[in-house]
Amino acid sequence: MQDLFAVLAPDSAEWDLARSLDPARLPAHIAVIMDGNGRWAKQRGLPRVAGHKAGVEPVRATVETCARLGIECLTLYAFSVENWKRPRTEVDTLWRLLRYYLKAELPRLQRNNIRLCVIGRPDSLPESAQEELESCVAATHDNTGMRLNLAINYGGRTEIVDAVNRVIDDARRKGTLSHLKVDEEAIERHLYTAGGPDPDLLIRTSGEMRISNFLLWQIAYAELYVTETLWPDFKRADLLRAIAEYQKRDRRFGGLTRAKPEEEEAEVLGVPAR
Ligand code: FPP
Repeated sequence: MQDLFAVLAPDSAEWDLARSLDPARLPAHIAVIMDGNGRWAKQRGLPRVAGHKAGVEPVRATVETCARLGIECLTLYAFSVENWKRPRTEVDTLWRLLRYYLKAELPRLQRNNIRLCVIGRPDSLPESAQEELESCVAATHDNTGMRLNLAINYGGRTEIVDAVNRVIDDARRKGTLSHLKVDEEAIERHLYTAGGPDPDLLIRTSGEMRISNFLLWQIAYAELYVTETLWPDFKRADLLRAIAEYQKRDRRFGGLTRAKPEEEEAEVLGVPAR
């Protein structure tokens, strides 16, 4: 967290927000649905692609802030399997922006020791975007700091289907297919995000109360944080606010915060504890 204070102005609102965080209870994994680029552009009478262009700076700031905070993993939803339904010109612009971002950001990713990973089915992307991604993934492969997952041509259902098929392929290779039993652990080991923690905090911008086919398996117990702020307006302070709110949540994972003493339960039930 000290790395973050190095870039904050003392006594600024961001400084105070960062000071209010408990460094021992930071989320290990933050996932973000970056939404509202189109509406941001429309509000300004601009074409939708202007919103995507304006969305690059918050990507940069969020990645750097998370890395400086010491977050283990950040996943950004950049393009869903459903986004192909958008006009061709918009989709093409997204690939151009992605290439521009990767080219411009690689030195910063390296400086911040960030490892870039792609989750989804990037093989359907234009060759030039695939090449840029592959080269950034390879260049940052040995970095030991934050893992940055870019979800590209990603779908939560597709991921689960891919995982199950990989489990089946593995069993076929090992000759164990005839008595294969699929369990949660087997699926988890074959998800695109295998080896990393599940998201603790899922942020969605632009106020929509939807999951939009994002990390369906992994968000089982994520804390959800929805802000009205549109993605191009999402600043470092908004991220810090989301984390501060996360730290107020009582996470029970289906259990209880504090086990009730048996006697207390017995009194309520009217039967002795033993
Ligand atoms: C959702 O807004 C946003 C996207 C589908 C694309 C996200 C892309 C960026 C933030 C650009 C740069 C990304 C990287 C990784 C460099 P929307 O278009 O659905 O907005 P709307 O709901 O207001 O129409």
